Amino acid sequence: MYDVLIIGSGAAGLSLALSLPHSCKIAILSKNIVTEGSTFYAQGGISAVLDKSDTKKSHIKDTLDAGAGLCKEDIVRFTVSKGKASIKWLQDAGVPFTYHDNNQKLHLTREGGHSHRRVAHADDASGEAIETTLVRQIKKRDNISLFEHHIAIDFVTTRKLRLKGNRCVGAYVLDKKAKKVKLIKAKFTVIATGGASKVYLYTSNPDGSSGDGIAMAWRAGCRIGNMEFMQFHPTCLYHPHAKSSLISEAVRGEGGRLLLPDGTRFMKNFDPRKELAPRDIVARAIDHEMKRLGIDNVFLDISHKPADFIKKHFPNIYKNCMKFGYDMTKEPIPVVPAAHYTCGGVMVNKQGQTDIKNLYCIGEASFTGLHGANRMASNSLLECIVFGHATSKSISKKLGKKYSMPDIPSWDESRVTDSDERVVINHNWDEIRRFMWDYVGIVRTTKRLQRAQHRIQTLLQEIDDYYSNFRITSDLIELRNLSIVAQLIIESALLRPESRGLHYTLDYPKPDPKLESVDTILDPITL
Ligand code: FAD
Ligand code: SIN
Repeated sequence: MYDVLIIGSGAAGLSLALSLPHSCKIAILSKNIVTEGSTFYAQGGISAVLDKSDTKKSHIKDTLDAGAGLCKEDIVRFTVSKGKASIKWLQDAGVPFTYHDNNQKLHLTREGGHSHRRVAHADDASGEAIETTLVRQIKKRDNISLFEHHIAIDFVTTRKLRLKGNRCVGAYVLDKKAKKVKLIKAKFTVIATGGASKVYLYTSNPDGSSGDGIAMAWRAGCRIGNMEFMQFHPTCLYHPHAKSSLISEAVRGEGGRLLLPDGTRFMKNFDPRKELAPRDIVARAIDHEMKRLGIDNVFLDISHKPADFIKKHFPNIYKNCMKFGYDMTKEPIPVVPAAHYTCGGVMVNKQGQTDIKNLYCIGEASFTGLHGANRMASNSLLECIVFGHATSKSISKKLGKKYSMPDIPSWDESRVTDSDERVVINHNWDEIRRFMWDYVGIVRTTKRLQRAQHRIQTLLQEIDDYYSNFRITSDLIELRNLSIVAQLIIESALLRPESRGLHYTLDYPKPDPKLESVDTILDPITL
């Protein structure tokens, strides 16, 4: 038995693991190799008030403004107040942030919604620097066991065991290499499984962002909040082979301009902050122009800046664009919006505690109230660190208490066989991602949402039948979870008859003042 089982090895899971006491026996699961997750691909950086001319008040205001009336102000204050200490913690762990040339001060970049330069970064590969540094630290710790290629299937709760109350006592986990289901028992279980953007056909996220933790929590009885607020990043590279190639908002922060094919700059028609308006506004403006003109993409141009400046600030983005034949120092690059971030998730309090005893959730899978209707750039990595540490404090206080582990049966495979129809998985996976893009994307209507609702109900039934009859595989686990998060997004969107932040519907194009501060909360008991 472990003291703490952490499902996920991104910024959230690793920050938690590293801040728990050395005496605590910890298991960390990664469903692929340890570094694979959104954290590794983060580009822009992590926000914090670090410059003398900046203030926490301003960071709070920008976050609240971007969140369009749905951020929880106490959570915003709490998170912003921990910004500087979080950067210091990462620096102490060895994260190689970028400094000014004189090596005295951190170089801070700017992104959409921020009224100051406040994004600490490691060139344009901030996530890779954070992830690899934290993994290095984890590997030095004897009290932490890392299980790569292990995918959690479902939580074990006392309710499922037909015992009193509802407390989490571990999880069933598929060892992908050994093709065996294991039972991992733990006093505390933490969901750190990242977001669900893979539910859309086009996404900046790696393949694993299938919302596993959110779907598992839902099945176990947790409430899920604000799933209609799926964020679309305005600028992913448009090229048939450039899968998930983000072009950081920092490119716009450092002067990049959005252009139509004829070279016209268009963002001034949508928002006075132009290219640095919050993400929902920029993504919608691009979508509007693409639909109006019937074009496949718009362009992002920073070629007016010196080539050396571009290569120094964006070495990886520059190399990646060159790989696809675009020289960003000389020409505009084609870009499109793509699904990027899950603002909603498993409902938690300030300590990361979910509705189920001894089950916590942190990072992108959680819904803390920080992001409201639209996350401001670079606030996500900050949330991962702040809530990783807060959860560590809460668990640490409870570790010494008396604990009784119930008897738990092993995984039962006696009634399933190997599938002879794996095509069903691929087909349903593709179908969900396509209709989510077409019907539940950047611009929605009630009719489109109802179409999606109808489709998902049929698919949920089909996937459930398949799950009951065939031996479990990693693809099946992800498909089952993807279908549930699709349902949660659709149902949440239908429950919000207004446009606010990332949720935009042509049937209700304005925000409804009565819905300000009203979250969409789905409860598994009532849906
Ligand atoms: P992740 O880093 O996604 O990690 C999820 C972990 O969970 C992985 O280890 C995975 O293997 C594991 N996992 C998932 N399901 C299971 C399962 N069933 N069983 C076992 N393990 C499982 N945010 C910023 O603040 N600044 C940025 O500059 C920035 N840039 C971004 C750029 C890109 C391209 C992307 C995709 C995102 C970016 N974001 C950025 C968002 C940010 O990176 C993520 O929100 C954040 O890293 C999420 O961290 P996490 O620890 O919650 O999850
Ligand atoms: C980016 O670099 O544009 C991504 C930043 C973020 O998602 O916070």
